[in-house]
Amino acid sequence: MNLGIIGLGYWGPNIVRNALTNKDINKVFCCDTDKDQLAKIKTSYSQVETVDNVETIFQNEEIDAVAIVTPVNTHYALAKAALEHGKHILVEKPFVASVEEAEEIIALAKEKNLITMVDHTFVYTPAIKKIKEVHDKGELGDIHYYDSVRVSLGLFQRDVNVIWDLGAHDFSIMNYIIGKPPKFLKAMGADHVGKGLEDVAYVHIEFENQLIAHFHLNWLSPVKIRKILIAGSKQMIVYDDIESSEKIKIYDKGIDVNSKEDEHKTLIQYRSGNMYSPALENTEALRSMIEEFVASVQEKREPLTSGQNGLEVVKLLQATQQSIKNNGEIVHL
Ligand SMILES: NC(=O)c1ccc[n+]([C@@H]2O[C@H](COP(=O)([O-])OP(=O)(O)OC[C@H]3O[C@@H](n4cnc5c(N)ncnc54)[C@H](O)[C@@H]3O)[C@@H](O)[C@H]2O)c1
Repeated sequence: MNLGIIGLGYWGPNIVRNALTNKDINKVFCCDTDKDQLAKIKTSYSQVETVDNVETIFQNEEIDAVAIVTPVNTHYALAKAALEHGKHILVEKPFVASVEEAEEIIALAKEKNLITMVDHTFVYTPAIKKIKEVHDKGELGDIHYYDSVRVSLGLFQRDVNVIWDLGAHDFSIMNYIIGKPPKFLKAMGADHVGKGLEDVAYVHIEFENQLIAHFHLNWLSPVKIRKILIAGSKQMIVYDDIESSEKIKIYDKGIDVNSKEDEHKTLIQYRSGNMYSPALENTEALRSMIEEFVASVQEKREPLTSGQNGLEVVKLLQATQQSIKNNGEIVHL
């Protein structure tokens, strides 16, 4: 396969580096309207071909697929044009800027028989894959709550708020691990810069059976925290992405509830067993992500993080935005 990569700013070079290590990608074409970015990528990777306009990528019949690594407000137009020129697409998160755009891209890809994949990178991290495996084996029991803190100082984005930037990760991870649709959400946020883009947000999501999720998303934190806490009826997990080793800790802790109706009271017994930290594979998430994209194109099948998954995340991002706009109103999903 030959891959065109559009957008070589902060994230694009990571996609280029990983595409070049994929044995099924023969040629990589890099595109950016900024000539400095093109020069930098050519200096780092002399084997890539560089072009300064997307038309050249779309018109090139040698190119089978296009990765779109530009700001989100450009995703829809670039994705649509790529599909119209018969290219499979790999779109950076968040997929597009609205539910309508997502639905249109998915329908167009279906009509053209082309693959649409969204780079929800965290789904490909060894840590998240392990959590999913542990949960799917039933080791956590029923999930009671999912709590995520994703805070740091910046990076402030020019075109999207903290929800569309950091929250896109949490929604994709949550959807992947829990695997069930939420019932409703509500959110509050604040913009301290005055440009209409929230830099702090708190999102509350509810599912069936008392499962609740909460995200704290923040670009105004003095310290960087990337922590997810998942409590199940059997075991609990703490995932600290800042840790270099032992990112995941699984605790055999919880409560057992004994109802004694005759005594008209409920007894709570605390369980405090062992903690272990499972070994994680040592693979870069983007490498696995690109392997999945290539495999889905070759095998003509839906990728793990398909356009549909991207749409589900965009629905939740849009609902969060709506709730914040209306002072935390409940948005049914
Ligand atoms: N998966 C992740 O963990 C992750 C991390 C960071 C960023 N991202 C995503 O990657 C995308 C890009 O983010 P970024 O931080 O690299 O942005 P950026 O602004 O640093 O870079 C974007 C680049 O795209 C180029 N560009 C814009 N429009 C273009 C066009 N029409 N044709 C050619 N080039 C064009 C710009 O010149 C720029 O060099 C966003 O969707 C962002 O959410 C994902």
